[in-house]
Amino acid sequence: MSDTLKRAAAERAAQIVTDGMRLGLGTGSTAAHFVAAIGERVRGGLKVVGVPTSEATREQAQREGIPLTTLDETPDLDLTVDGADELDNDLRLIKGGGGALLREKIVASASQRMIVIADGSKLVTKLGRFPLPIEVMPFGLTATERAIARLLDSLSMTGELRLRHAADGAPYVTDGGHFILDAHLERIDKPNVLASTLNNIPGVVEHGLFLGLATGAILATADGLVELGQ
Ligand code: 5RP
Repeated sequence: MSDTLKRAAAERAAQIVTDGMRLGLGTGSTAAHFVAAIGERVRGGLKVVGVPTSEATREQAQREGIPLTTLDETPDLDLTVDGADELDNDLRLIKGGGGALLREKIVASASQRMIVIADGSKLVTKLGRFPLPIEVMPFGLTATERAIARLLDSLSMTGELRLRHAADGAPYVTDGGHFILDAHLERIDKPNVLASTLNNIPGVVEHGLFLGLATGAILATADGLVELGQ
């Protein structure tokens, strides 16, 4: 059911795409439906270029025949379409469940519009139940982890930091060669404060709070599509 909903949101987003658009191509199971839908339209004559947000998306887009570019060649994008792990009614997001948060944030920041596609269960009243991914340098991991723990303490936030592991039991390594600490916080009362202070910790490369980046969302529910923003 959830996959059907993800595809419905993705296919609606694909209808918004017009000739000449420079697209950010998101990562994850929902974004994969969008990439597939764009691939189908490209094979039907749509002219777009895409910047993938992960190696996995790059490989899929290449298989689909979507012309690709880079942010160095094409630094201004018209539209990024990506999934999310959580979003609230103010279009604040937690992303990075799939480990691609760094490239996803760079690409979203280079885009005039970012539309989130998701099944309706991702919409929450308060962010934080989904563990917040924090991408960190492998160098000095323990020191960085302790600095994050001290920060959370100073913000009166409790929660465990867990190093993400891959299926083979080794630490999960991002496309950028970094590790991910998942912060199990349960609730984030002040996302802006947490986001800006996390960015001040040396060793933190990026975090999964996407604030002020999404301009719209397409949520698929059993009762139909719900669109927020644009
Ligand atoms: C990857 C992401 C994904 O967009 C997020 O994890 C949602 O994934 P899915 O569409 O598979 O539920 O942020 O880093």
